Amino acid sequence: MNIILQTPRLILRQFTEADAPLVWSLNSDPEVVKYLHEPTLKTVEHAAQIITDIILPQYKNNLGRWAIHTKEDNEFIGWCGLKYRPEIDETDLGYRLMQKAWGKGFATEAAQHTLDHGLNNLQLKLITGRAHVENLASINVLEKIGMDYVGEGIVDDCPVRTYTKPNLKFV
Ligand SMILES: CC(C)(COP(=O)(O)OP(=O)(O)OC[C@H]1O[C@@H](n2cnc3c(N)ncnc32)[C@H](O)[C@@H]1OP(=O)(O)O)[C@@H](O)C(=O)NCCC(=O)NCCS
Repeated sequence: MNIILQTPRLILRQFTEADAPLVWSLNSDPEVVKYLHEPTLKTVEHAAQIITDIILPQYKNNLGRWAIHTKEDNEFIGWCGLKYRPEIDETDLGYRLMQKAWGKGFATEAAQHTLDHGLNNLQLKLITGRAHVENLASINVLEKIGMDYVGEGIVDDCPVRTYTKPNLKFV
């Protein structure tokens, strides 16, 4: 298992091709994808394709979306991570949790440590976080981890709030 980060309550590790059932269980919930620019996943095969085509290629340069497990019982609860988007030259902080893991502070804990990892260990110059304007739970996370509000606008055809965090070593 390729562990990327540990927080007080969580382990973040790289996904593998064996994780298709986990990705399917997360992305087949309409509530989870409600504010995201993607449909629910219908099959485990589609989840496997997402891992192969989208998630695994992100792992170059030590970036990517990482599976989150609770330390207490090793349960898979979702993912968090940093994704480089070459089309807009931006490193995006993202997170997505199973409903059963909402309301426990796990998203904030994972996002805070991922942000710190990106700035301090990976030496990224700027990290961006975006959430649909109605996705108040996600906006709450971005604000709690201390990202700076930039503004509202349309990105990828969605009305979003944008937040950034610059690396003070490069300012
Ligand atoms: C966005 C998402 C990850 C937020 O999850 P969340 O559980 O609401 O986020 P948090 O980690 O901030 O936890 C929320 C609450 O847990 C509570 N909590 C319970 N135990 C806690 C603990 N030990 N430590 C900290 N907070 C705790 C807090 O009160 C917190 O609420 P508050 O900040 O309003 O007080 C979740 O809604 C989700 O996965 N949504 C679907 C995917 C998605 O939209 N992703 C974002 C795309 S931009």
